[in-house]
Amino acid sequence: MLDKVNELIGEVNTFKATSKKEVEAFRIKYLGSKGLLKNLFAEFKNVDAELRKDFGQALNTLKKSAENKVNELNDAIDNTTEDKGSYGDLTRPGEPIEIGSRHPISLVKNKIIDIFNRIGFTVSEGPEIEDDWHNFTALNLPEYHPARDMQDTFFIEKNPDTLLRTHTSSVQVRYMENNQPPIRTISPGRVFRNEDISARSHCIFHQIEGLYIDTDVSFADLKQTLLYFTKEMFGKSKIRLRPSYFPFTEPSAEVDIYWGLETETDYRITKGTGWLEIMGCGMVDSNVLTNCNIDPAKYSGYAFGMGIERIAMLLYQIPDIRMFYENDKRFLEQFTSVI
Ligand code: PHE
Repeated sequence: MLDKVNELIGEVNTFKATSKKEVEAFRIKYLGSKGLLKNLFAEFKNVDAELRKDFGQALNTLKKSAENKVNELNDAIDNTTEDKGSYGDLTRPGEPIEIGSRHPISLVKNKIIDIFNRIGFTVSEGPEIEDDWHNFTALNLPEYHPARDMQDTFFIEKNPDTLLRTHTSSVQVRYMENNQPPIRTISPGRVFRNEDISARSHCIFHQIEGLYIDTDVSFADLKQTLLYFTKEMFGKSKIRLRPSYFPFTEPSAEVDIYWGLETETDYRITKGTGWLEIMGCGMVDSNVLTNCNIDPAKYSGYAFGMGIERIAMLLYQIPDIRMFYENDKRFLEQFTSVI
């Protein structure tokens, strides 16, 4: 008797069905009012007293297995018919769509563009392969000027010189040549310098430079714009300008923001000073205006420029600049966003 029940349990567990009809027939066979279980339970009284416990347990197992099987098969059939065309439960949450990620350089670049768009700056772009005039000479860096050494250059051809632009200031020259003031433009782009590759510097990186030219533009306007930018970009409202030198601006300055000294990271990235250098800036040199056919007696302006990698490294705590160009998915996926 017990063997028979165990055999039935085996049968129940291996039973397969693809239609509701088959499942119903199975249910009636085992669990129906005239089904096998009913009959077996009726046999109970004929079983020897010492075997009853085992027999009873086996019967319960059989009953549970049969009930589970019926539910399981019905569920499985419900799901497959849905796939074949019916809409199923329309209130069920949708399948998650996997979204890609933007490169951190793009995220930072877009954020900077957005901040300057709000105060009337438009985006301008130019070629990565430049001539000497737009990259150097027009920017008050004539041939043999020692400051040309500030940016080690990749030359493509000599006489006339063709080179990979060392900064996006070349785009601003092109913009001034083709537009009269008022000018408000930012130029993002890739730049190239013949430098050793390390964790802190690379021979390819990205810059974003700004140019503002109008009547009566003063250094105070520059400072106010930079303050607005640092507030929007970093949420920091203290900056300082240190005198510096760029051939194309006079006076020139380096901009530091006060990052603070609250965490250990703050100490590390600011070398314990709380201050962090983020860009160069200055009033556009009158020679540059003249070179670009803008009358310096009538107009003045300011310019600023920053490295996008440097800012992305700061914001996202990226320790090595080379990570931006390795295209390691594990790195890039950390920047998945909905925008
Ligand atoms: N072009 C400069 C550089 O690449 C940055 C800069 C831009 C400085 C504008 C001042 C004004 O270093």
